[in-house]
Amino acid sequence: MSEAESIHNMAGKAVSGRLPEPPAFMADATCLPSSAYTDQEFFDREIQHCFREGWISIGTVHQLGSSNEVLPVEFAGEPLLVTKDKQGEVRVFYNICRHRGVKLVSGDSAAKCGPGILSCPYHKWAYKLDGTLAITPYWDGTNGSRPEEAMRDKLGLIPVRSAVWSDLIFVNLSGDAEPFESFIQPLEARWKSFDRSLMRMTNTSSYEVAANWKLACENFLDTYHVPWVHRQLGAPDMMFRDLDYTYLSKDIFGFIMPHFDRVREEMDMVPDMFPEREDRFDYALDLIYIFPNTLLMITPSWFQSISLSPLAPGKTRELLAGFVVGEVMMTEEWREFRDEFDAVLDQVNVQDIGILELLQEGRKTGRAGEGQYAPYWDHLCEYLSQRVREKLTA
Ligand code: FES
Ligand SMILES: [Fe+2]
Repeated sequence: MSEAESIHNMAGKAVSGRLPEPPAFMADATCLPSSAYTDQEFFDREIQHCFREGWISIGTVHQLGSSNEVLPVEFAGEPLLVTKDKQGEVRVFYNICRHRGVKLVSGDSAAKCGPGILSCPYHKWAYKLDGTLAITPYWDGTNGSRPEEAMRDKLGLIPVRSAVWSDLIFVNLSGDAEPFESFIQPLEARWKSFDRSLMRMTNTSSYEVAANWKLACENFLDTYHVPWVHRQLGAPDMMFRDLDYTYLSKDIFGFIMPHFDRVREEMDMVPDMFPEREDRFDYALDLIYIFPNTLLMITPSWFQSISLSPLAPGKTRELLAGFVVGEVMMTEEWREFRDEFDAVLDQVNVQDIGILELLQEGRKTGRAGEGQYAPYWDHLCEYLSQRVREKLTA
């Protein structure tokens, strides 16, 4: 039997009678047209309506140290600055000085801000990490002059609406999205038995991908490719068994693979896991997409987030963060385990990036929109496409 035949037979055996019937909207669902992945005008509309008007994740709190740190990031074309003050409070601002608009902090990693004061490289105006304007040298022509109250009130750093959830930092740039608490509530309810305060970050990695941001989302939601592109993760009969699609809200959906977590097979090796989690998550991978740019996976013993930053129609930056559960997993004893965990996440993501770039290449033909979504497998991709259409026509 050829390899292709063997794979076909495995897939047939695995899915027979086990997947739920496809939803009605899959009857003649087709891919978005190629131009949705290549056209600059389409991209600009997505940035406005999907990204700026939505809740987007821009990083994780663990990227910052315990206090007095700043993290510059760029999302949806905006230079942003995350600050963590002495009390550990996290805030997000536009990363620009209120004097002449210089970008305040450069680079792409967190930096210590020793005295808790951030000074502009141009004329040395300085801000506290809560955004208050603190120092304006020679403002009145004299050394050591301080801004007066009215000026302080007017010229602090410009705040960005933000929220922290499961270590992720979310922002809403337009300022008028629904409250974050109600936006995230369906997922918070689903994951209430996971004590996410126990998560400890092992690594963050940034990848620049020559592909449209939606291709990264679609691929994330595509279970169908997993046994073929990531053969190391398992055969179809294990991966696809009892697979269940999950629709929590218009913006939050994904699937659960109940038999995924092989770390649990060696559970006596892993001392700390989410305690008191619901039974249904005991060996499961719960994969959840938060429209438009947040890709999450949780298991009893680890968590992974990817935040997508669209740079151009055919270019996306991915920020991937991996987490283990419990302080003990951060000790020297578990270093090898953590290194291996980080290597596995990286390997899977690099395998995906190879496919994403081929998908983008395919969009050059202009004929890719004539592709056909597979009714049993692609409804989450179709759901995403519908969401994009809806957002752009609203
Ligand atoms: S632009 Fe920042 S102090 Fe002048
Ligand atoms: Fe994948």
